[in-house]
Amino acid sequence: MKKILYIMGVSGSGKSTIGNKLSEALQLPFFDGDDFHPDANIQKMSAGSPLNETDRKPWLKLLNKLAIKELQNKGAVIACSALKESYREVLSNKIESEVKWIFLDGDIALILNRLKNRSSHFMPASLLQSQFDSLERPKSAITISIRNNPGTIIEEIIKKLKMKERREFGLIGLGVMGKNLSLNLAENGINLSLYNRQVEGVEEKVAEKFIQEQKLLENALGFEDLALFVSSLSQPRSILLMVKAGAALDELINEMIPYLSEGDVLIDGGNSHYKDTKRRIDFLKEKQIHFIGTGISGGEVGARNGPSIMPSGSVEAYKLVKPYLEVIAAKDSEGKTCCTYIGKDGAGHFVKMVHNGMEYAEMQLIAECYGLMRYGSGKTPDEIAQVYQSWMETGLSSYLLEITIKILKTKEGEDWLIDKILDKAGNKGTGSWTSIAAAELGIPSSMMTAALFARYTSSFKKNRIENEAIHKIHEPRSTHDMDHEILKKAYEFARLINHQQGFELIQAASTAYKWELNLSEIARIWTNGCIIRSSLMEDLVPVLKTSKNILNDADILPNVIKSLEALTEVLHLGLQSRQATPCFSAAINYWYASTNGQSTANIIQAQRDFFGAHRYHRTDDNSETTYHTNWSNL
Ligand code: 6PG
Repeated sequence: MKKILYIMGVSGSGKSTIGNKLSEALQLPFFDGDDFHPDANIQKMSAGSPLNETDRKPWLKLLNKLAIKELQNKGAVIACSALKESYREVLSNKIESEVKWIFLDGDIALILNRLKNRSSHFMPASLLQSQFDSLERPKSAITISIRNNPGTIIEEIIKKLKMKERREFGLIGLGVMGKNLSLNLAENGINLSLYNRQVEGVEEKVAEKFIQEQKLLENALGFEDLALFVSSLSQPRSILLMVKAGAALDELINEMIPYLSEGDVLIDGGNSHYKDTKRRIDFLKEKQIHFIGTGISGGEVGARNGPSIMPSGSVEAYKLVKPYLEVIAAKDSEGKTCCTYIGKDGAGHFVKMVHNGMEYAEMQLIAECYGLMRYGSGKTPDEIAQVYQSWMETGLSSYLLEITIKILKTKEGEDWLIDKILDKAGNKGTGSWTSIAAAELGIPSSMMTAALFARYTSSFKKNRIENEAIHKIHEPRSTHDMDHEILKKAYEFARLINHQQGFELIQAASTAYKWELNLSEIARIWTNGCIIRSSLMEDLVPVLKTSKNILNDADILPNVIKSLEALTEVLHLGLQSRQATPCFSAAINYWYASTNGQSTANIIQAQRDFFGAHRYHRTDDNSETTYHTNWSNL
């Protein structure tokens, strides 16, 4: 942005020297205000008389005209004492927002000393006291002590000027994700303002401290005052909110509203519920503020190096934040960004939620394979890691398998760390939201629900131990030798079903909410950066361009048919070795049920009609007519 930099201060403070050097450093023209004084003013000052208001006015106006003219070009550095607020008002008339004040500050003794050594200037030292008397210290200037040498002063001015510039992107919430996203944004050349709330004794000066620790953030500004943070951003503002989803986010939004302006964009990057996102979009729309809800997947490392980003809201708002989100996202195998506009409303958060549901099932399948190998056939964690490694190398590579190999190999002294980790799975809620959404939409997303319930079952550790002591069914059993190729095939097949269920759920929401989601594009942005990235996801990008049902795709179908026997065998082994395999079971049951033209739901319908007169359709009548039988009379 073009600027007029007024170097101000009393006579002898070094305005000409500093102004000249600063103009060289910034490659801007320099004008010394003294050169614009009318002769009468110079004579008056040389005679030892201070200038009065009438003397000064035309001179100040002339400098203001000069500044306006220079703004048509590159801007300029202008040295002028500008001692009083009223003078500064004249100097910045009509160009207030383009003017920056640089105040050269020094005490009278230091300046007197300098003036005594300066014979060429028309201002006698005797006038200095009158200058100090007139000086009204500026409130919003960059104040620089003149004690340092000119080189240091110039460096300091340039640094402070940078700090005064408005930042292009704001981020609120410096938790693990917020911190890593800030570094990612900064590394991509984005000028940041960062805000973190202040909680006495717990979170204090978090943003400032983080900036000081990180070289990458040397140009960033840190705040714990929301008003100042918002005003440090150029408009329309783009602000990424990385705070806890739920009530805390609503509170923050309400707190921010008074400081925001029409056209600003808030981006919620947390794991918010998609219905909350829609509510927030509608609420803020009334205030002409945009709201983008975006799923961000990839955890800490993804946030730093490139996550998968799933934004939704209005297209107009997305256009404003697109450059920032796209530049920080991971890249797919063709170098395209793993960020795409998902759709309107909370579609982005819905898609991220299903991602997490699929993530639960992917994790559970790996855990079930581990259980079968560890407790069914007595393999060590290292041996299991080797099996997984061979799968990785033969067409089944995925991020989750990769990290599990590392986990299994990790030791604490002689012991495997995995054996010291308590077997109670936590969850933050997105898995249950996915199962609830599936139920609401009437979609049988059984694998993610089985994985969720497996986590819940695991959490009852005390009960499990008590029950084990009573039933003794898990006493050491003869181990069987498991064919890892069979397990691999079963795993491969179950993963296909998990992916089919995930995309089926997304498609159902797309139809129900008229989101017009592009399944292939969603798969594409999940090929890198996110937790469920895998070679399978890569394969699904072209498949989902034409097929709605992955399992029926001509290229995938032969694998499905080949793997069915393997899945049956693995389940059999699970039952034999008394290892729970809820996710594998859900997969095969879904497959059997959804490929069977004759289900058993006629019994259900008959029972419903029997006890509740709920009526049924008949196989020998294709119309919409429903029937009721008077069962008790039969
Ligand atoms: C991701 C993850 C991320 C987070 C999960 C964990 O995509 O980066 O899914 O969002 O790790 O929310 O969820 P649970 O605590 O429910 O396992």
